[in-house]
Amino acid sequence: ALERTFSIIKPDAVAKNVIGAIYNRFESAKLRIVASKMVHLSKEQAEGFYAEHSERPFFNALVSFMTSGPVMVQVLEGENAVLRHREIMGATNPAEALAGTLRADYAASIDENAVHGSDAAESAAREIAYFFSDEEICPRTR
Ligand code: CMP
Repeated sequence: ALERTFSIIKPDAVAKNVIGAIYNRFESAKLRIVASKMVHLSKEQAEGFYAEHSERPFFNALVSFMTSGPVMVQVLEGENAVLRHREIMGATNPAEALAGTLRADYAASIDENAVHGSDAAESAAREIAYFFSDEEICPRTR
C-alpha cells in the first residue's frame, strides 16, 4: 500500500555532511521526499518526541544527543514506505546493521546512529504530525 513514514537525519550525520548521500538512498529506494526541513530541537521538543522512552536508562543521553546540533526531518512516501525505510536504515545498533544500510555506513554507535525512522504506520502518523502541518506536506502528482 502507498504509505508515509517519518525520518530524522540525526546531528551526527548532519555534522558528517551526508544529508545528500542519505537523500540519494531514499530516492534510490523509491521513497519520495514529500516534506523536509532542518531544525535544531529544543530539549522540550526532543523529550516530547521520545516520550515513550522517558523511563529508559538512555533517555537523558538521547535527548542530549538529539539537541546537540541541527537535524533534518522528512516525510517519505512510497509503497510500503515504513518497512522499506526500516530496511534501508538497518538495525538500531550499527554493530548489527547489514552491510549497505545507512546505519552500517554512517552510524558510530547505538546512541549516535545517524537516522531515525517510524516503526509502524501508527507511529508514523503521530511523528509526522509532531513536526509537520498538513500544508507543509506536498504529495506528488507526477
Ligand atoms: P531511535 O530510532 O531514534 O529511537 C530511540 C533511540 O534511542 C534509538 O534510535 C537509539 O539511537 C537510542 N538508543 C540508545 N540505546 C538504546 C537501546 N538500548 N535500545 C534502543 N534504542 C537505544
